[in-house]
Amino acid sequence: MNIFTTKQALNQYLEQSRASGKTIGFVPTLGALHQGHLSLIRQAQQNSDEVVCSIFVNPSQFNDPKDLEKYPRTIEADIKLLEGVKCDVLFNPPVSEIYDGNEQWHLNIGELERLLEGKFRPGHYQGVTQVVYKLFNIVKPDVAFFGQKDYQQFLIISKMVESLNMPVKLVMCPIMRETDGLAMSSRNIHLTAEDRQHALILSKTLNWIKNNFDRNSLPQLKTQAEHMINDEPGLELDYFEIADGDTLHQATKDANSIVALVAAKVGKTRLIDNVLLVHGS
Ligand code: PAF
Repeated sequence: MNIFTTKQALNQYLEQSRASGKTIGFVPTLGALHQGHLSLIRQAQQNSDEVVCSIFVNPSQFNDPKDLEKYPRTIEADIKLLEGVKCDVLFNPPVSEIYDGNEQWHLNIGELERLLEGKFRPGHYQGVTQVVYKLFNIVKPDVAFFGQKDYQQFLIISKMVESLNMPVKLVMCPIMRETDGLAMSSRNIHLTAEDRQHALILSKTLNWIKNNFDRNSLPQLKTQAEHMINDEPGLELDYFEIADGDTLHQATKDANSIVALVAAKVGKTRLIDNVLLVHGS
């Protein structure tokens, strides 16, 4: 695998790839890679000639400095995993390569960035769009791959790409789960054995909603879900919403796309998860 830490070296390499007619697939990550990330790399390999993965713990998307400090950094293990799946390129820049000094600008994506996650993590999506905008400009991918677990992030990046006419196709890849249903996340390593057991209520509740979707009204489903999660010890629910899959406003049953989204603190770790209930066309 080719590893680059500077934009210039990466550019030189990718210019040659493009010149030889290769399409570039891109998987941006914060590192601490797990099978969920590797599934994105595999998907990228099936859809492009050359796959670039970036590992960059982006300070501007962490609204809580303690969260940034605590974010797992496992670069040696990440490199082994990427080599194991034959990823072509790793871009692993230092902060100074991405940000010059104290950058204050951000893109205005409108209300999508203030709903749900945006309400609990103010400024988070400003940081995400800032870094993804920069990374897209550096890598210039034909296709970029993101996980469905960060559903709102995918919507927001899609909005950015559409508004700014960025020439990149976006692909949302399914959530990867442990055998007991827990959504894979880099943050799971912070869960104690007890937290991990409690955390299972999130995927169990989403599953229950999926299985009972046709038999109940949306308010009934939401109330029942909140009860299920609040009855579980060791969890603090931030939100459970059944939302329109395009706007993230409260859904109505005739919406073109419907998604149930949940966020909760499990012990000291904040987890998110979701399930698509109606797939948009
Ligand atoms: O989803 C992530 O891992 C990050 O938010 C991303 C898209 C790599 C931007 O830092």
